[in-house]
Amino acid sequence: MTVVPFLDLKAQYRPIKTEVQKAVQKVLDECSFILGDEVAVFEREFAAYCGASQGVAVNSGTSALHLALLAAGVGPGDEVITVPFTFVATVAAILYTGARPVFVDIEPCSFTMDIRQLASAVTERTKAIIPVHLYGQAADMDPIMEFARRHGLKVIEDAAQAHGAEYKGRRVGSIGDFGCFSFYPGKNLGAYGEGGMVVTNNPDYARTMQMLRDWGQDRKYSHVLKGYNYRLEGLQGAILRVKLRHLEAWTEARRVHALRYNELLKDTAVQTPVEIDSRRHVYHVYAVRTPQRHTLHVQLHARGIQTGIHYPVPVHLQPAYSDLGYGKGEFPHSERAAREVLSLPMFAELTDEQIETVTTAVKEGLHV
Ligand SMILES: Cc1ncc(COP(=O)(O)O)c(C=O)c1O
Repeated sequence: MTVVPFLDLKAQYRPIKTEVQKAVQKVLDECSFILGDEVAVFEREFAAYCGASQGVAVNSGTSALHLALLAAGVGPGDEVITVPFTFVATVAAILYTGARPVFVDIEPCSFTMDIRQLASAVTERTKAIIPVHLYGQAADMDPIMEFARRHGLKVIEDAAQAHGAEYKGRRVGSIGDFGCFSFYPGKNLGAYGEGGMVVTNNPDYARTMQMLRDWGQDRKYSHVLKGYNYRLEGLQGAILRVKLRHLEAWTEARRVHALRYNELLKDTAVQTPVEIDSRRHVYHVYAVRTPQRHTLHVQLHARGIQTGIHYPVPVHLQPAYSDLGYGKGEFPHSERAAREVLSLPMFAELTDEQIETVTTAVKEGLHV
């Protein structure tokens, strides 16, 4: 029995079905399956949406991070500073290059990088910083950029959850040297399969990444770099172009839902998300926090309300990354957030009635 789904992709598809089918048909008619015109136009449109001059479309957000790191010159022996409270891909991409991830904790109120810890994390081997705009809210970019410039580091924004998020009036992705996006189906802008993009204002970086995503070729069968097969499919480019036209309306709907949740959940036992001044939160995830997370999760589940936990274990405590040498207690804010956060249903098509069903269940579940 699902009363309120966590995400309803069918509800999103229904009103755009005709537009999507037309776009898909065009790609089928032209048999333009890999990269091609639709992808090239989408690169321009999405880069412009982010306020960047260049876009390089790839086959996932993970590939976007990997190529941005390579174009930034990161490799074996280097260190890259990021946070452990993120999806594992942020950290995995650093390891793909042979570099070492170095963690700093998050600030509990925004769930993003605590910039005060950068000074003790930087070494002569540090090459780059990856702030993560977690849940759809920008990290504190001004001090991160200032720190990076002072130490000669590149900044790669992990904007996989933050399409359209803003920091002091600027769209994320175009503030650092690189901005990496995921178009995984459930993201605020989602493909009908895998997809990702790096945006940048540097044409040289863009050129390097265009080659790296396509076997390092500068022209057919001329392999000037050791590359990858990270190309975006033509169908995804065409579908994403259609969906990009709706993104602002969907984002505004998410923001209205978040305000409604905040209103209905104020003075309850859960802490609602904080939108920091001058940052436009795009609510990819609407996460409340409570020390009674397990009870709340069970109670909501019993009433047919789907929830998520983003993320139950911070990366430094994941078994696969134990060789990084971090232990329990080293990043207390990340560890506490991992114990306390619960993501409530959030998608543009959510109705007021569904929101009320969820908030009533939260109150009853925690007896408040
Ligand atoms: C913060 C973050 N970084 C990176 C990724 C990786 O994106 P993808 O799943 O498209 O490879 C994701 C998406 O799942 C993410 O949420």
